[in-house]
Amino acid sequence: MSAAPGFLTEREARFLALAAACTPAPGVILEIGSFKGKSTVGLASVAARYRLGRVVAVDPHTAPSSTDPGLGGQASSFEDFRHTLARAGLTDHVEVHRKFSRELATGWNRPIRLLWIDGDHTYPGAKQDLDLFAPHLAAGGVVALHDVLHSFAGPIRVFVEDVLGSDRYGPAGCCGSIGWAQYRPVDGGSVRFRAARRALARRAARLVRPSQRGRDLQGLAKLRYKLQRALVPHGDVDPSAWVAAVQP
Ligand SMILES: C[S@@+](CC[C@H](N)C(=O)[O-])C[C@H]1O[C@@H](n2cnc3c(N)ncnc32)[C@H](O)[C@@H]1O
Repeated sequence: MSAAPGFLTEREARFLALAAACTPAPGVILEIGSFKGKSTVGLASVAARYRLGRVVAVDPHTAPSSTDPGLGGQASSFEDFRHTLARAGLTDHVEVHRKFSRELATGWNRPIRLLWIDGDHTYPGAKQDLDLFAPHLAAGGVVALHDVLHSFAGPIRVFVEDVLGSDRYGPAGCCGSIGWAQYRPVDGGSVRFRAARRALARRAARLVRPSQRGRDLQGLAKLRYKLQRALVPHGDVDPSAWVAAVQP
């Protein structure tokens, strides 16, 4: 993963690999937003090692993306993406869909064990991705959204409102800028899960408004945002503790 170009920190990469390996649910690993393949390599190497099936990766590879204008770069990330997978020896372990997530959603009927959302970072885009694919999460599956602690409008709002605010999710947290939660439709509303989700939501919710300003966040407003962000726990995840937390 460290050899691949992309947008994941070491801490986030480790968390993603942990979630791919240890999420206690059947189904596929779905990645929305591959770019040049950094997270794809992490997910696919875990999937290959533990025989979890091919990772499903969807991205139109139209960077710079009209839906994610901050990306910049050349006309398409597709050749770099293919090159990254080939260099890692993982081409056969990824089911590549060169299209928008909403196109893949048409006719989708597979259960999902890990839903990794790192595509369109606008609010309508991130909300659409969760709305389209969360209904396919297997019980015990995990949803993880990237960039909840960066000033993009979509991921933080969707994480706070639709994930942390829902009793269909149980354990939840942040690791780096990844916001994650386990889909627990039966016991997500129990007191222990709800209280912990609400405590996290209270802190994270303070980031929702400033994040709507995206890159326009400057000066004092930016400083205030950073201070609020520091109050959201988002350090390294201890693998054993995480595995214990997501056991059914
Ligand atoms: C932040 S990058 C992904 C980074 C990647 N996960 C990594 O580890 O480096 C966002 C990607 O999402 C893609 N994207 C934007 N809108 C999308 C959509 N609706 N469906 C699928 N992919 C989308 C963009 O083309 C871009 O490559």
